Amino acid sequence: MEISFRLNGEDVTATPEAPTETLLDWLRARGLTGTKEGCNEGDCGACSVVVTGADGTPRALNACILFLPQLAGKAVRTVEGIAAPDGTLHPVQQAMIDRHGSQCGFCTPGFITTLAAAHARGDTDHADQIAGNLCRCTGYAPILRAARDIETAPVPPHMIEAPLLLVANTPGEREGAGPLAPTSADELAAWYLAHPDATLIAGATDVGLWVTKQFRDLDKVAFLNRCEDLKGIEIGADEIRIGAMTDMETLRHAIAPHHPSFAELLRRYGSVQVRNAATIGGNIANGSPIGDSPPALIALGATLHLRRDDERRHMPIEEFFLDYGKQDRRPGEFVEAITIPRQTDALYCHKVSKRFDQDISALCMGVNLPVVDGVIARPRIAFGGMAGTPKRAARAEAVLDGQAPGEAAFAAAVEALAGDFTPLSDMRASATYRLEAARGALMGAFHAMTGTGPALLEVRP
Ligand SMILES: Cc1cc2nc3c(=O)[nH]c(=O)nc-3n(C[C@H](O)[C@H](O)[C@H](O)COP(=O)(O)OP(=O)(O)OC[C@H]3O[C@@H](n4cnc5c(N)ncnc54)[C@H](O)[C@@H]3O)c2cc1C
Ligand code: FES
Ligand code: FES
Repeated sequence: MEISFRLNGEDVTATPEAPTETLLDWLRARGLTGTKEGCNEGDCGACSVVVTGADGTPRALNACILFLPQLAGKAVRTVEGIAAPDGTLHPVQQAMIDRHGSQCGFCTPGFITTLAAAHARGDTDHADQIAGNLCRCTGYAPILRAARDIETAPVPPHMIEAPLLLVANTPGEREGAGPLAPTSADELAAWYLAHPDATLIAGATDVGLWVTKQFRDLDKVAFLNRCEDLKGIEIGADEIRIGAMTDMETLRHAIAPHHPSFAELLRRYGSVQVRNAATIGGNIANGSPIGDSPPALIALGATLHLRRDDERRHMPIEEFFLDYGKQDRRPGEFVEAITIPRQTDALYCHKVSKRFDQDISALCMGVNLPVVDGVIARPRIAFGGMAGTPKRAARAEAVLDGQAPGEAAFAAAVEALAGDFTPLSDMRASATYRLEAARGALMGAFHAMTGTGPALLEVRP
């Protein structure tokens, strides 16, 4: 298996021993030890690198959960390649020195690469950009000052990658049990039908941890990242169609004008590095009861589109989640897209997690409360973290349907939640806490809807 990509301005070819060899391991074995291993699970940002794909946009990604075949035909810049070829420091490196942004220095390469990617894109939401980078000794104020200092500095020419040769680079065999990188949904469908026991790898923000934390050998895999026809968002007159391979950061920006509360929820989804990798298809297919997108999608009345060979099935997304760890997906079937019907926005989302940024939900809510002629019409209320699957609150919905949006109606709906859910206690939250938090979140939706209280998600420094 040979994987060609550009590394710090030079074309390289890697020959990974396994399709799941991570970029981090490969870099460090090659002597590029500036990229650090902290958590090895996407949580700390110490391994952040800048990756530029065919669209020319530099993005920060965590090298510890990035498999080499995901890089075919892309450009990677590690901290060793952030200064100009003549040694001139990148503006962010100089600003970190000037602002005393580094003490022990372990986290610093990750901050440099993350901020260099943000600077190249012109992103100035600095706190969000570094939410996935942990620093235990400097503190964030000097780092944020450094980020602000360089807002208007020109992007150094070497940070703009020359158009990439999208090499006819095939990470593995086309037949048999080898890893495969199909370039279209058709190709994927045919191969997966013949190899239904294979593991599909989308953004690898779940699968990466099976390898780095559970030490699983995944020898029969298919990488989906080259299926361009599974990526992207189409805003149609009747529906918004989201390809399964659309990453969460792209979705966050695209959905903001239509459903701002969903976008605000996604701002708290992992970190920028995780959102740049994680896909909507993976977030649904993994069947997690605490995935962040299903409650909002259920509340919006989204449809899931599945494909097996040339056969396609469509279902309301809530019907996909059958039971804990069990989804309505047949061997050889994969998620192709999700569609959301166009509608006047009436969505309120809320996420409860122990940490504001970069944390999995203990509880996640999506509530759609359209008001027609002064009354709530066919509300849709969905929660994650309250059952073995993401689930609608049928009783609470029935209480609100046809009611004017008043405090008494919502108080009754809040009481009904206890009949809708019997949540579990686990390390993230107790059953009692979950039910109490769900009650508070639903009442919060009432306050947000009527402008009588703060929008719970919109907490900013
Ligand atoms: C540090 C960190 C923070 C995180 N924070 C959050 C968070 O805040 N909220 C949240 O919801 N999740 C979070 N996650 C979990 C993870 O990001 C999501 O579940 C993610 O959406 C998975 O998508 P992926 O593309 O990375 O999937 P992968 O890891 O590639 O795949 C996940 C599963 O889905 C299958 N799969 C992928 N695509 C398809 C497809 N098209 N059809 C059929 N099967 C498919 C794979 O075979 C695998 O079983 C976090 C993960 C990490 C590591
Ligand atoms: S080592 Fe912590 S995110 Fe990669
Ligand atoms: S400088 Fe020590 S962890 Fe950030």
